[in-house]
Amino acid sequence: MSSNSLPTRRDHIPVLGKEAVDWLNLDDGGTYLDGTFGAGGYCRLMLETSNCKLVAIDRDPEAVKRGKALELEYPGRFQILHGTFGEMDVLLEEAGIDKIDGIVLDLGVSSMQLDTAERGFSFRFDAPLNMRMDQGSLTQTTTAADIVNTYEEDDLANLIYKYGEERKSRWIARAICKQRKIAPITRTTELVDIVSSVVRRRPGGNNPATKTFQALRIFLNDELGELERGMAAAERVLQPGGRLVIVTFHSLEDRLVKLFFKNRSGRKPSGSRYLPDTSDLSRQPSDLSRQPSFSVLTGRAVPPSEEEILSNTRARSARLRAASRTDAPAWEQKVAA
Ligand SMILES: C[S@@+](CC[C@H](N)C(=O)[O-])C[C@H]1O[C@@H](n2cnc3c(N)ncnc32)[C@H](O)[C@@H]1O
Repeated sequence: MSSNSLPTRRDHIPVLGKEAVDWLNLDDGGTYLDGTFGAGGYCRLMLETSNCKLVAIDRDPEAVKRGKALELEYPGRFQILHGTFGEMDVLLEEAGIDKIDGIVLDLGVSSMQLDTAERGFSFRFDAPLNMRMDQGSLTQTTTAADIVNTYEEDDLANLIYKYGEERKSRWIARAICKQRKIAPITRTTELVDIVSSVVRRRPGGNNPATKTFQALRIFLNDELGELERGMAAAERVLQPGGRLVIVTFHSLEDRLVKLFFKNRSGRKPSGSRYLPDTSDLSRQPSDLSRQPSFSVLTGRAVPPSEEEILSNTRARSARLRAASRTDAPAWEQKVAA
């Protein structure tokens, strides 16, 4: 189905949508940012809940097309920007907006990305091994196939372990390297078969390739780096009292958000032996002499209700965290381009 045939996706049910909008505490007349437009589910809820202005960002040109349709439905109140939320301050500046009253990020891939076979995100369909979120970009040209066909065995094993938390990463990397000597690996189903040859499927368990696919997607799209840059940029553009609400889908993301909020709220991070060592946050000491730039609103991460999990299994691993911006200066200034 082309994105043009489903421009606004009224049928799309966003994960933790009501909770995310509640935590944003929208004010009529405020200006808010949704950094992950997707199908526009959160945006629609926000626009219907309050008479606010809303800017949205998505790095996927297909999502931006859907956003253009929503602009027509809410003239003067809604605007979509193409780019990554890691550069939200630059995008907002270019759009002439300097301060924002609340930001929401609903991380990862959308149902549309997962369900569109040719995007290559899903092990459920036979498709080219692509996985780029921004397929039209001149800067994002590497595909998942490039990675599996060119990376050294050790590097492949490390990234599958780090971003997929896959214990059998060495076996998988060895099997990939053996297979690609015969012919390049170009299709999703080929990768599924290779992983399935070394990881057994447990009865009732996930597809054995789940973690390998997750690892390649996160690595290729630099999702954890984007999250770190996005949180630092949010700190710069949020007004005092403005809220940052983040919905994560796996523990690597949730740990980064938890650590950022803990650090910026002046609590000493306990550190995590599980954090990927690519994380700037994991190396960044908590600076207790600085004024806290956020105060944490959610003590524990908020999970979806049982009801939501029953009606949408993709919601199962979602967690929401929220914090409110203080009036202290941002800890990190923008790095000059
Ligand atoms: C889980 S979906 C969001 C769904 C949305 N909340 C809704 O209700 O429809 C995530 C979306 O964020 C986009 N995305 C992921 N990482 C991004 C980034 N770093 N910058 C901008 N968009 C991003 C993806 O392309 C995808 O469309």
